[in-house]
Amino acid sequence: SRPATLGSQPPGFAGMPHRLETFHSVAEGYRGEVLIRWGDSLGGQPPTRFPISSEEQRDRFGYNNDFIAYSPLDQQAANGTEHRASNNSQHGLLSINHENCYPHLMFPGFKNRFDAEGLTNDEQVKSSIYSVGHSVIEVEKINNQWRVIDNSPYQRRITPFTAIEITGPAAGSERLKTSKENTGRQVLGTLGNCAGGKTPWGTVLIAEENFSEFFGLDPAHIANIPDRELTNHRRFAVEEEGGFWARVDPRFDVTNEPHEMNRFGWMVEYNPYDPDSIPQKRTALGRFEHEGATLVCKEGQPVVAYSGDDAEHQYLYRFVSEKAYREGDHQHNQYLLESGTLYCAVFNEDGTGQWLPLLYGQGPLTAENGFYNQADVLIDTRLAAQLLGATKMDRPEDVETNPHTDRTYVALTKNKHKLSANAANPKVQNPAGHIVEILPPGVDGQRDHSQHYFSWDLLLLGGSDQTGAKPQGLYGGQLEEGGWFANPDNIAFDARGRLWIASDGCQSFGFADGLWCTATVGEERAKPRHFFSCPTGAELCGPEFTPDGKTLFAAVQHPATDYQSRYDQPSTRWPDFDAAIPPRPSIVAITKDNGGLIGD
Ligand code: FEO
Ligand code: CA
Ligand code: CA
Ligand code: CA
Repeated sequence: SRPATLGSQPPGFAGMPHRLETFHSVAEGYRGEVLIRWGDSLGGQPPTRFPISSEEQRDRFGYNNDFIAYSPLDQQAANGTEHRASNNSQHGLLSINHENCYPHLMFPGFKNRFDAEGLTNDEQVKSSIYSVGHSVIEVEKINNQWRVIDNSPYQRRITPFTAIEITGPAAGSERLKTSKENTGRQVLGTLGNCAGGKTPWGTVLIAEENFSEFFGLDPAHIANIPDRELTNHRRFAVEEEGGFWARVDPRFDVTNEPHEMNRFGWMVEYNPYDPDSIPQKRTALGRFEHEGATLVCKEGQPVVAYSGDDAEHQYLYRFVSEKAYREGDHQHNQYLLESGTLYCAVFNEDGTGQWLPLLYGQGPLTAENGFYNQADVLIDTRLAAQLLGATKMDRPEDVETNPHTDRTYVALTKNKHKLSANAANPKVQNPAGHIVEILPPGVDGQRDHSQHYFSWDLLLLGGSDQTGAKPQGLYGGQLEEGGWFANPDNIAFDARGRLWIASDGCQSFGFADGLWCTATVGEERAKPRHFFSCPTGAELCGPEFTPDGKTLFAAVQHPATDYQSRYDQPSTRWPDFDAAIPPRPSIVAITKDNGGLIGD
């Protein structure tokens, strides 16, 4: 009965009230079934015992699942030929990030979450190293029920010890060489794998976000670090107390290997269909605390990748490829992210904005400011963007483009440490976060993301009337009970153009993190409804739809991270609820009872 504006479909389910429970819940008419859990084999079999040994963990599903990519499989794919045109929604691969590890919930003996420096047992340290990175599993839906396929030829773990190539303009830089690796083109592992992205040529992008938390700095040997690298490392807040992994691998102490940390903070691209493919760090997309990178690809036009730097007062970026995207030409497309130009965003007070290029030799990006080549600009992306005058943001998380309207959305999770506001980050104290809408030039459905100017608007602010965080009128009317949330993090669009928002931090507002859904245009713009609620202590990550829109995969990350929780006294033992099994980060497959479209 509503006018059919592009992407204006509102959610059709009844929103849930806020919850705070030991278990997860999903809106009426849907079910959310646990698919795979931390410590399971990549075929879905449980571990033999807890705590999990380093030898077992090396090949098993990792901790703190975050980003999820669904890649369809079909008969041809199984034969190793062509798979990329498929939209098979019953059978595919799930590529899943494992952002970090929480030793106090993985091993006995810790006082609390902030006691991780007490990790002095080498076996536990190794197990924790193997628990992060990335997993690929094969999944299949039979009778509206998903299962993990055992002994899949595609299954794969990527860990901090996996061989990875460094490509693009910074590859080979002196600043990427170490005492163990003198080409600056190879690195062991990927770290802090938070969100990511997918390409239409079948590869998966995984982001390196909070990589510095795995490194430490030994104050006794600080003189070993060249001044420029010390400044660079401190820009990522590397801590003297951090770096317990250096106990078993000295490269994680930056006073030992001053360049090792420069080899992290990139976007990584790999082909999930080829379990032997070597992942590649794409330095053209810059080095910062990448939340993810999401693409806009149009035939014959450059590929545009949006990426947030998730730290307080940091910036939003856009990469524009040098070469054009050619649909179906995998040989050509697989190198598109190797060369192009990186831009940082300026949000003007009047609702307009610009993208400023980060190019060596232009403006302040010269030797005078410590930039001697383009590799320096990319390694020190944060400094370059600051010098160019990019707009300081309230922690840019996931960025997604609505396929119906071609408008782009940026989740800004929060920023408690501000002394002033700007129009795109309008709250001086912003504990609840907000979402910004970017409108590249053009009309809905046909916008040009490679132009260097745009207009922007606020979609919504986190918080509620009750907390005083919601300005009048922004939501366009009253929200239903349970309809407000805080701290948007991962976002996704469904087949009807509805925006799905996963939260990370609602528990400080008195209710569990979860998933909300809203239209972004039309009468129901910015009127979220509550769809999924996490067990206590968890944040929600992932949200990833199958191409048919009938399954939504969600990642429940760090259940039981409430302040006092620890291994032998967690606030929930989700999802096993067995006194012998600690809480386990897990993937949930959500389907509709009647097999229909999620959200209708
Ligand atoms: Fe790992 Fe920005 O969330
Ligand atoms: Ca995130
Ligand atoms: Ca997303
Ligand atoms: Ca998060």
